Amino acid sequence: MPLSPAFSARLLPLLDDLVRTYGTPFHLYDAAGIVASHREVTEAFAGAGHRQYFAVKALPNPAVLALLRDAGSGLDCASGTELHLAERLGVRGDDLVFTSNNTALPEYHQALAAGAAITFDDRPFAERLDTLPHTVSFRVAPHGAAGSHLMGDAAGSKFGVPVDDLPAAYRSVRARGVTSFGLHGMSCANESSAERAAQAADDVLAVGAGLRDHGIDLDVVNVGGGLGIPYRPGEEPLDVRRWAGAVIASRDRWFPDRAPQLRTELGRIVTGPHGVLVTRVINRSRKHREVVGLDASMSALMRPALYGAYHHITLPSTDDRPLRAVDVVGGLCENMDKFAVNRHLPDPRPGDIALVHDTGAHGHAMGFTYNGRLRPAELLLTADGDVVEIRRAETFDDYVSTVRWSPASVLPAGVR
Ligand SMILES: Cc1ncc(COP(=O)(O)O)c(C=O)c1O
Repeated sequence: MPLSPAFSARLLPLLDDLVRTYGTPFHLYDAAGIVASHREVTEAFAGAGHRQYFAVKALPNPAVLALLRDAGSGLDCASGTELHLAERLGVRGDDLVFTSNNTALPEYHQALAAGAAITFDDRPFAERLDTLPHTVSFRVAPHGAAGSHLMGDAAGSKFGVPVDDLPAAYRSVRARGVTSFGLHGMSCANESSAERAAQAADDVLAVGAGLRDHGIDLDVVNVGGGLGIPYRPGEEPLDVRRWAGAVIASRDRWFPDRAPQLRTELGRIVTGPHGVLVTRVINRSRKHREVVGLDASMSALMRPALYGAYHHITLPSTDDRPLRAVDVVGGLCENMDKFAVNRHLPDPRPGDIALVHDTGAHGHAMGFTYNGRLRPAELLLTADGDVVEIRRAETFDDYVSTVRWSPASVLPAGVR
């Protein structure tokens, strides 16, 4: 959706200077908005025995993670690399969860050493470890009524333990002396309805309550991430209070005597609306349709190409021009490298600045370097109104930094 009025008011007066100083493209994140969204979640659960762990994969920049850490958020890591990031930030123990899938043993050892709460995606992963964490959680496979396009087909999901196999999974770790148990479940992604998201959590809590029949009393239920944001103008933001209230009510209904702690590992709803990709129009041509070329490509934002996802686009200084239907494309040698198809924009011309909205989650983080299109810089607009470069743009040297230029025998003499 269009940038929030508060974000616009903070960003637009700085835009010309930023473009002059940093060039384009770059992602910019709004610290005040990110902290406010984190607080909205934690305040909605206040007093209910809840902890939010920001899903590092959504925006793995240390400056943003530090901001969230300082606002009281834990971190949810999905890989050894993300655990390293958490370690660098001094986040460990109760402040850290490790929710991964198809994971190699060294990463579990790393998570154990950091004192993270671990969710096992299936029973064999726990069985391979000699030492188990104090609390063992399993992820339940997507099931129930909820579900979403981004999660894929529940029946074909690679994630989690099928519901019917859960009791045996817990029994296997209980036989090894584990006395504290958790359950993880996430069956929606970018879910825009508070009711459907709460239903997805209710499905998980119902499974958790059923485990009591097998002698498993849960200490923790993690209902994952997956809350949506309004990417399109006119869409309503999900009502976080209503969703949290319904999740708490579900938890208390399914667990009337002994309430497990509720955990969330939300990413998109915390940072998504508070990022923007600032680009410049570099081309305009007429083919089967009018084509507008940006100086960014899907290496900076993959969601439109990967999921056909809508990201709103505005051109801040072209208000009086007539609207034209255009395709907005990047420079990658892939026909899917389009930020928008048949979008009505105010007659974009080379030199115009174009803002791609809602890039604060699963944006830069999903970038890649195919075609030698390098990932752009990340800037942070601080609560004081300063702008700090928190990741520079990649360079050719970065691109080749992992290349082994020797043994020379495989390269012609003089190639460097
Ligand atoms: C296990 C897990 N937790 C949390 C998240 C964060 O989801 P979102 O950013 O949609 O809240 C994801 C997203 O892929 C995930 O796979």
